[in-house]
Parts: sequence; C-alpha cells; structure tokens
Amino acid sequence: MRTIHVTASKEYDVLIGEGLLDKCGELTAKVVRPCKCVIVSDDTVDELYGDRAQISFSYAGFDVTRFAFPAGEASKNLATLTDILNALGEAGLSRSDLVVALGGGVTGDMAGFAAAIYARGIRFVQIPTTLLAAVDSSVGGKTAVDMPFGKNMVGAFHQPSLVITDTDVLRDLPAEQLSNGCAEAVKCGVLNDPALFELLSGGDWLDDIDEVVERCVTYKRDVVAGDEFDTGSRAFLNLGHTFGHAIEHLSGYRLLHGQCVGIGMLMAAAAAKCPEDMILRIADCLRRNGLPTRCDYPAAALAKAALNDKKRAGGSITLVLPEAIGKCRLEKVPVSELPRCFEAALASQEALGL
Ligand code: GLY
Repeated sequence: MRTIHVTASKEYDVLIGEGLLDKCGELTAKVVRPCKCVIVSDDTVDELYGDRAQISFSYAGFDVTRFAFPAGEASKNLATLTDILNALGEAGLSRSDLVVALGGGVTGDMAGFAAAIYARGIRFVQIPTTLLAAVDSSVGGKTAVDMPFGKNMVGAFHQPSLVITDTDVLRDLPAEQLSNGCAEAVKCGVLNDPALFELLSGGDWLDDIDEVVERCVTYKRDVVAGDEFDTGSRAFLNLGHTFGHAIEHLSGYRLLHGQCVGIGMLMAAAAAKCPEDMILRIADCLRRNGLPTRCDYPAAALAKAALNDKKRAGGSITLVLPEAIGKCRLEKVPVSELPRCFEAALASQEALGL
C-alpha cells in the first residue's frame, strides 16, 4: 500500500493499493474512532460495492447506514443534497460522526458538501471508485453541487479525514471510464511530470495504475499545500479546463469531462504556440488512451461558453499554457482575447490534421 500525506488546513493520508475496499472500515478506524456513519453512493456503485464497504465498516465497529441516489451528473443538485442531508439526519448523525463518500466525483463532491454543512461540519472519508476521482477530485477538499447558473457554483472547501483508493476497483472500470480519468492523469504529466506522461503515452499502463495514481496525487498534494483555497497556484490544475468546459457545455454534457479536458489541453498548447511536435505528442498520448483530439465547435460559440466559466475574474481569465511536457505557466488574458485564442487553437487543429 502506498501512503501520501496531505498537509492542508487538515492533515490526512491518501492510501492507494489493491484490496483496500474490503479493509476500508479497519483503515478508517485508525483515524476515526468507530461511530455512526452513513455511506453515500449512487445506485450503481451502491449495488457494486455498497455491501463490501458496509461489511468492512460494520466489522470495524461502525454503526452503518447506507444512502444511494440515482447515478449521473444530473443528480448533482440541491435536491439530492437535501436528500443526503435528510439521510444523515434520519441516521441520527451528530457532530462526532462520519460520512463516507463511496463513488466517483459526483458522489465525492456532494457527500463532501453534505459533510461540510451538516451540523456545521462533520468528518468524511473519500473512497473513490473512478480513476478521475482517484487522481483528482477525492483529494484537496473541493466539494460542491451544480446550480442552474453553473457547475460547482455552490460548495465549500472541506478536507476529508482519509482517502482510500482500491486500485482493484479502478482496474475493473469500463474502458470509457478509465479514459475519462486518464485525461486528468495526462494533465498532471503535462503540468509537472514528464515520466508520468511517458508512462501514459505507452497506452498500456493498467499494471502500473498504483504508480499513476500515486504520481497524480503527489502532485495534487503539493499544489493543494501551496494554495488550498484556490486563490493562486491551484489554478494550474485547470490546464485544459477553460477550453474543455466550453466544449463540455456546447456538447450538452454528452462528451465526458476527461474527453473535453483532453481536447482542451491540445487547444491550450496551440493557443500557447507550442511546437508542433509537442502538440502531436500530447495528441498521440490522448489517442492511445481512447481520448478524442478534435473540437468541431466554432470559435465564437466556444468563447461565449468559456466566458460563463467561474474561473473568470472581472475582465480577464487565467489560462494555463503549456511550455514543455512537464512545465506550464499561468497567463491572465483579457476576455476580449478569448475568441482569438479559440481561433488559433482551431487553426492549429486543422494544420496538424487532428
Ligand atoms: N480539480 C481541481 C482542483 O481541485 O482544484
């Protein structure tokens, strides 16, 4: 088992390894004295893994209740949050009890937010069951729900007490879900870790999944330690996201987040005027991992969608621009420049035959 220690407003470990789901209660009991807990999942994950998590927590002495909501991003709203809060209340949780988020990013974000506001804040443990949650959203304490006026627009920073990633569970994911999470891992490679980028570029890294998760979490741990509340350098984690969110929005959320982030990274590299061979290396890495590389939306529509991005501050937007594999910079760009950035990115896509 690999352990990464996160130092933020709260210190905690991220545990990564095989077979951890069946030990999750025992592992949690080392940091949270057995108490009442509610395991929150979506109905798909509850059916797949809920019994095993419940048995483990009960065996470790926790008094367990389960709550499942309908799977899908459409559930990430205030109505489901209210249902989760009611489930915590009906289970009789007090401030010394525990929420367990068993699932992907939607579950982690909502169960984490419920834990942040229930009884003015109680502890929670993340057990990510998607690669995307394992390498990104389960670490760093961002919790939220989507609102009609934007994704993740209501939420809180609330760090978990422990993150437990069972890499056997990740290995069992459908190929599309692995690709989706892989885009965030490629992002970490482009941002900071050329060796990770090389590993992922082979396209055949499932046997090294512990290593992939460890490298991503280590990088994220360092970023969060430097800027927990996202007022500066945490913006690096948005590589590909300004462009990607615009694509995601225009696709009506039919394209997966990771697919959009992948295309968004290519657009960011093109907007940064990176050398052609570097853009082609990123495209090749994405393709080998089953990710698309082409955006078919017009620049004007993309720029309009990007302007709704919550990362916009006043009349400017901060872009994360690659310089080399493993090195990026932040650049504040006036919003009036955005259409030109998208045009340059689309032109490069045509020129490179992506
Ligand atoms: N997922 C980006 C962040 O945690 O800041």
